[in-house]
Amino acid sequence: MAVLDIRVLGDPILRTRTAPTPAVTEAVRALVADMFETMYAAEGIGLAAPQVGCSERVFVMDVDENPLAMINPEIIEREGSERAEEGCLSIPEIFGDVDRATRVVARATGLDGKPFEVELTDLAARCMQHELDHLDGKLFIDYMSLLKRKFTARKWEKEAASYPGFIRKLEPGKQRSRRSRSRDKSANSATAPFEPEL
Ligand code: NI
Repeated sequence: MAVLDIRVLGDPILRTRTAPTPAVTEAVRALVADMFETMYAAEGIGLAAPQVGCSERVFVMDVDENPLAMINPEIIEREGSERAEEGCLSIPEIFGDVDRATRVVARATGLDGKPFEVELTDLAARCMQHELDHLDGKLFIDYMSLLKRKFTARKWEKEAASYPGFIRKLEPGKQRSRRSRSRDKSANSATAPFEPEL
């Protein structure tokens, strides 16, 4: 297994819709293992294949210690709507509110090559919808108002200088820690929102 580089906003692969993954091969299983390792190293809760430079229709997620790998995922039921803040491992330091369904039923192919269905709620449902968007070349910033998008683009211009070639290298112990940042925020306000990076 290996920690992979993460592609950041500006890399065209993040804007490319993936084609269905034709079969769950040994290579796909190896990719999924690397994606889990990369997601944990980045302290994220979700990661889609285009974020590590692979145009496969695959993502991994882990909300509340429930690791899930989905190949060719689709949403077959959705319900409710909630607005909450999101971040993305491919757009570090940028956060924004997104409306998402609060409950989804997803269908996907598993690592064993067999189809399965899973019901997800709240943060897990949000994460699944965010990752599915990645597979269609869509990013959470696309949901922002025009004004907020302009502000974000200016902020990202400065951030992007840290990622030559649109590559974010994860060096264990060296990347900024989202968790410690969240703790700092919580110290200021008991109701500070959790900002998931997906
Ligand atoms: Ni993301």
